[in-house]
Amino acid sequence: IKDPLVLFMPSGKRGNFPLGTPVLDAARQLGVYVESVCGGRATCGRCQIEVQEGNFAKHKIVSSNDHISPKGPKEERYERVKGLPDGRRLSCSATIQGDLVVDVPQDTIINAQTIRKAAVDRHIERNPAIQLCFVEVDEPDMHKPLGDLDRLKVVLEHDWGFKNLQVAHHLLADVQKILRKGEWGVTASIHRDPEAEQPTIIALWPGLKNEAYGIACDIGSTTIAIHLVSLLSGRIVASSGTSNPQIRFGEDLMSRVSYVMMNPDGREAMTVAVRQAINELTDKVCTEAGVDRHDILDSVFVANPIMHHLFLGIDPTELGQAPFALAVSGAVHCAASDLALDFNQGARTYLLPCIAGHVGADAAGATLSEGPYRQDKMMLLVDVGTNAEIVLGNRNRVVAASSPTGPAFEGAEISSGQRAAPGAIERVRIDPATLEPKFRVIGSELWSDEDGFAESVADIGVTGICGSAIIEVVAEMYLSGIISEDGVVDGAMAERSARILPNGRTFSYLLHDGTPRITVTQNDIRAIQLAKSALYAGVKLLMEKQGVDHVDTISFAGAFGSFIDPKYAMVLGLIPDCDLSDVKAVGNAAGTGALMALLSRDHRREIESTVQKIEKIETALEPKFQEHFVHAMALPNKVDPFPKLAE
Ligand code: FES
Repeated sequence: IKDPLVLFMPSGKRGNFPLGTPVLDAARQLGVYVESVCGGRATCGRCQIEVQEGNFAKHKIVSSNDHISPKGPKEERYERVKGLPDGRRLSCSATIQGDLVVDVPQDTIINAQTIRKAAVDRHIERNPAIQLCFVEVDEPDMHKPLGDLDRLKVVLEHDWGFKNLQVAHHLLADVQKILRKGEWGVTASIHRDPEAEQPTIIALWPGLKNEAYGIACDIGSTTIAIHLVSLLSGRIVASSGTSNPQIRFGEDLMSRVSYVMMNPDGREAMTVAVRQAINELTDKVCTEAGVDRHDILDSVFVANPIMHHLFLGIDPTELGQAPFALAVSGAVHCAASDLALDFNQGARTYLLPCIAGHVGADAAGATLSEGPYRQDKMMLLVDVGTNAEIVLGNRNRVVAASSPTGPAFEGAEISSGQRAAPGAIERVRIDPATLEPKFRVIGSELWSDEDGFAESVADIGVTGICGSAIIEVVAEMYLSGIISEDGVVDGAMAERSARILPNGRTFSYLLHDGTPRITVTQNDIRAIQLAKSALYAGVKLLMEKQGVDHVDTISFAGAFGSFIDPKYAMVLGLIPDCDLSDVKAVGNAAGTGALMALLSRDHRREIESTVQKIEKIETALEPKFQEHFVHAMALPNKVDPFPKLAE
């Protein structure tokens, strides 16, 4: 008779195994990731699985709880002492007694957005770079003078199959104490990444250590966002964010590069500042989750190229001028302590690869998260900041570029512009008949024409206008005829409405008559036109490289993308024509990519090989960029049609 067939879900991996094989062994042989710390002693409880009962006709499997061995004494003991949820079994103890469909429970990964964004659920198949291994080491013997550490290595090779183990230097001084404290039972943390490198013991605890944590972090030029994650369950246990303290050296990326060029200690000061902020954030998430920061064993970072270099302590001057040379573009592996990160002494750090001099590890993270290369549809992925990072592609080919949008979308260079903060106008509507506006500000749920609005903003006031609202107000001005296709405020309208004010030789639109007085000037509209033309021209170049005249889906990454209304983005021609239902905000996709790389070495290899294949387009060197840019100055565009807008 044939050996029983075992199918693992959700991976779908399957194989035939002799009767009596422990389910954990079958999982191992198929490369299905099931955690195990105690090495099958039925004490850690990390190897839990569930048997699905039923007839799985497609696979010709009849799976039932009778096809798995009953609980043995060890498993019963575990259940008695620590408890086992209903239907769960310890895969190290349960053996195969017939055809089985086995569910490996996946804890849901919650991608909590850093700012006001609905949570996104996502499953990440786990295969972390860190493994916890409990072993019982032979006691010393005068007749066999093998050292304590050497005997530890012998048993790690015997029980867990690790060959040529390296040992983090700091453990040499501690190993004897730890072995004796654990009465010869210890948990070793083994780091293995990349696969080609020898596995290393990076931490050691007396007794059974049943939890380890990792940090996934997105270092943005404005905001740093961090997740504290259980490496064993894959669960995010706490998240937090803070503004990047480098802002005090320069608001945007280029001013930080200039700061480095002009101040001999500038690079050092900014490196220290960002590392310190990460340590403080780590403190915060650890306190919130009740986790000891020394239990953090791994960390993954994404950042744009300049943030990436400053974090690593690299002078970013070369990135400030053509040919925008990166000091290192490939993935970086190092010790967390090399970067002054205050985690476990042996903790490791991994940085995703950068795509190009202006398209960083953050874009690589977003690419890993959204996966244009995993699908047939032509996906446009845009992350808008001072630079827009643009990725366009599908399974066959992926191209990427960055476009110098400038800070207008973030509210800078706009007369009443400000960051998204309480008091900032975030939504705008203009009545096309009366030209009267109404708006909503961050911190109040009410529109400005609703009863109680004045009271609701009495404390915070109406302070300015943020990036997403600038898009809306300009689009609404266009839709209500206040500005022409060329973006010029129609002075003749001044006769129709007191909202249109002369301002030198041009006209402005009065949005809020209070203190401060908030107007949208001709210069503001120009700044938005320039920014959106740069973005659109970059997108258009990539579409030409791909030989397509439309895109199937558009994903907006980053905070800005979460707040802008896709309809208004299209009215202004920021993005190419597309079914509005296929335009979505994907939140902090770069951070999600960092999380994926933290939980799975497979994802690290996936993005490393993908980045090598991505074709980089340098917009500044492309002769057609200027032509696209000029056409894109019109609203929505001089030459390109937007048929979906009309629908
Ligand atoms: Fe530890 Fe099964 S491997 S309980």
